[in-house]
Amino acid sequence: MPSLINKKIILGISGGIAAYKSAELARLLMQEGATVQVVMSAAAQQFITPVTMQALTGLPVFTSQWDARIDNNMAHIELSRTADAILVAPATADLLAKLSLGLADDLLTTLCLARNCPLLLVPAMNLQMWEHQATQRSVQRLVEDGSTMLGPASGIQACGETGAGRMLEPAEIVEHVCAFFQPKLLQGKRVLVTAGPTFEAIDPVRGMTNRSSGKMGFAIAQAALEAGAQVHLIAGPCALPTPLESGGQIYRTNVTSGQEMYAAVMQSLDCDLFFSVAAVADWTIPNPAKEKIKRHSATVASKKSSAPQIHFAANPDILQSVAQFAKANKTGPNKSPRPYCVGFAAETSNLEQHASEKRQRKGIPLMVGNIGPDTFGDDLNQLLIIDENSKQHLPRAPKLTLARLLIKAVAKKLA
Ligand code: CTP
Repeated sequence: MPSLINKKIILGISGGIAAYKSAELARLLMQEGATVQVVMSAAAQQFITPVTMQALTGLPVFTSQWDARIDNNMAHIELSRTADAILVAPATADLLAKLSLGLADDLLTTLCLARNCPLLLVPAMNLQMWEHQATQRSVQRLVEDGSTMLGPASGIQACGETGAGRMLEPAEIVEHVCAFFQPKLLQGKRVLVTAGPTFEAIDPVRGMTNRSSGKMGFAIAQAALEAGAQVHLIAGPCALPTPLESGGQIYRTNVTSGQEMYAAVMQSLDCDLFFSVAAVADWTIPNPAKEKIKRHSATVASKKSSAPQIHFAANPDILQSVAQFAKANKTGPNKSPRPYCVGFAAETSNLEQHASEKRQRKGIPLMVGNIGPDTFGDDLNQLLIIDENSKQHLPRAPKLTLARLLIKAVAKKLA
């Protein structure tokens, strides 16, 4: 489901070369269901025309305080009163400096000063301008005054230099705006998430792993961050970028084996919630070969089957260990076990029965079941949430949508 339905966003555009990306930004915001009202500075119109923005948004673009189309000629008041947020992208060094001082010499700056809604600023400028003390002072003051900074990113700049100051890509900006509007159900909570598979080495080139893309666990880490939590993501080997990476707020630890994941988790137990989403290999190979096992080597050839005999040992059950720790650590709400543990059961059949049994066996309050292997690696999933007294089915939807619903359900239990 689009995340910005019924949201009215004023998209402010100031005069930087990144303004050409504002057209795509407006389109993506609208795709998420937002109504986008564009306001442009005079300099912005040197880079992109109001006609382009008007054609994309379907609304007249405003560029002047003296625009007679607005009732009472009070554009700065009228426009901001009905908005859910003002998003300025790109926000130039000049604009940030003006806003930090409360200057209001055109419609966009006046609107920001007269607003009664949140202000999100997406800086874009040359790296020296970004690093200049004057700009950094402006940014610090604006953040202290309650504005939200999105970015900037680092990379090649229009001027040919490389460094910090690039505007975030439109899709990243939209992700941050959607995150900004999520209810802060886990404000002040610490959340630990394991995600992805583990990899158990057989020799330096071979190993055993589980089918897991990590997408569901990463979506839960993102949804927890969006809900205001402090998030630690412990990830097995998977190629996914850290969610909302440009915000840099998820602390990520990469591990390979089940043992490594166990060690990383047991060092991070000072948390309120534990989502055990990782598909941990149940077995490991205790003494992996130091050299590649050759197909025709003596160890292999001596066996009748001409295949190596591999001995497995059990991996620790991470979730069960955390649940035991939590039971002994009754520092949660009303002296309940802390962290509150949520397990995941990927099953190929009898989902409800297996997931319920697993919940009891592991000694956790909540188990979330999903039917594999069709959903492995997919962007969609469907879940069954099972606790002691009830079960709730979350129908097929994008993993981030399901993660947000799960966070909502879990937050209720913590309240
Ligand atoms: N889990 C874990 N450590 C393990 C195995 C599983 O923490 N060594 C966690 C998973 O992260 C998941 C839950 O336990 O939250 C259930 O995992 P699953 O693989 O479905 O269950 P198993 O206990 O391995 O049981 P089985 O393989 O028999 O289905």
